[in-house]
Amino acid sequence: MPVHLLDQREHHQPRFDVQLLQHTCERLLTQLGLVEKTLSLVLLSDRQMAAYNLQYRGKDGPTNVLSFPAAFPGEVGPAAHNDLGDVLLAVDTAQREAAVQHCTLLTRLVQLSIHGVLHLIGYDHERSEDEAQAMWDEEQQLFTQLFQTRRRTMPHLAINVDHVATLRQARGTVEPDPVLAAGLCELAGARGIVVHLREDRRHIQDRDVQLLRQTVKTKLNLEMAVTKDMLALAIELKPDLVTLVPEKRQELTTEGGLDVVGTQKKTAAAVAKLRKAGIPVSLFVDADAEQIQAAAEIDATHIELHTGHYCDAVSIEDEDHEFLLLRNAAELAAASSLKVNAGHGLDYRNTARIAAIPEIDELSIGHAVVSRAVLVGMEQAVREMLDVIRQATC
Ligand code: PXP
Repeated sequence: MPVHLLDQREHHQPRFDVQLLQHTCERLLTQLGLVEKTLSLVLLSDRQMAAYNLQYRGKDGPTNVLSFPAAFPGEVGPAAHNDLGDVLLAVDTAQREAAVQHCTLLTRLVQLSIHGVLHLIGYDHERSEDEAQAMWDEEQQLFTQLFQTRRRTMPHLAINVDHVATLRQARGTVEPDPVLAAGLCELAGARGIVVHLREDRRHIQDRDVQLLRQTVKTKLNLEMAVTKDMLALAIELKPDLVTLVPEKRQELTTEGGLDVVGTQKKTAAAVAKLRKAGIPVSLFVDADAEQIQAAAEIDATHIELHTGHYCDAVSIEDEDHEFLLLRNAAELAAASSLKVNAGHGLDYRNTARIAAIPEIDELSIGHAVVSRAVLVGMEQAVREMLDVIRQATC
């Protein structure tokens, strides 16, 4: 069911995730039972669309979508058999319509693609009111099916305050205090506070988690290794979420996702213990289908997708590749009824693309925000990151 996407715009502006549109249209063909068919999606500027609109419909100005079936009704032959035809989308017009509807450009383009594809398979809204209603109903249903796993708001921002504690530990004094920093993050709009209580206590201390449990008003997410001591501590503390991570003494920061497949028995026992104590459990995993399926099998409530490889990518191709893995992993996790968080290495440049993945509910960001806070203050640094996320999602 290939969807060929041709971006014919002169300036490739406005920017959006073209691959995600293509992928969503492939899912659309699956929903319609058209897996054997091919479809061409052509992205145009308003100027280009106006030329087609004049040539084929004798109308002035651009329209939002035009469909050209590969075959006329009843026509037979190889082209008619496999090829659905072309859907032309005017991206500038879609952008204006998205602003009016308060939705993302991608959402509007998907709506228009659904409309265009329904035309290709024979739906029509001009012949009669009944047919128009049937087409409208089908459009709504397909849209709901495609986006049923999507969150309805922008992803929440949870701030990891470990590195406030790193600065404090550098001098062994009482400041800066991660507990005070957490309060400022919440005042600026963060919807959660994350701390990693490492076995070597290199930054966050037991005192910090105890005080944070008493003061955090949003959500306290405790990152920890799967050890007997940490499990006992978490069960006593009762954070709002525990995120299980692999932990190595020598590492500068968490280096990779948890091997849920390889440690299934031990991890499952930890998940069961925490859940029995009423604590939801997230597993920090790489964008790997097997790990995600294993997380679902052992009844984790969430996963946190490890974004480190995407953030460390050194070429655009590499970044695109890692992004696709994350996007597919998010979709798989949501389809497996797991809540999806993401984090590690996210900064003011690379977060927007991840924030736009519709299945991701929460981003966990530490180093970049704390680094910026040193220069501009914690509240400003959090607000700037919230702006990045907001702009990526509306
Ligand atoms: N998520 C997990 C599981 C982590 O271990 C960390 C780092 O402590 C983060 C998110 C935040 O990463 P960063 O500090 O690079 O934003």
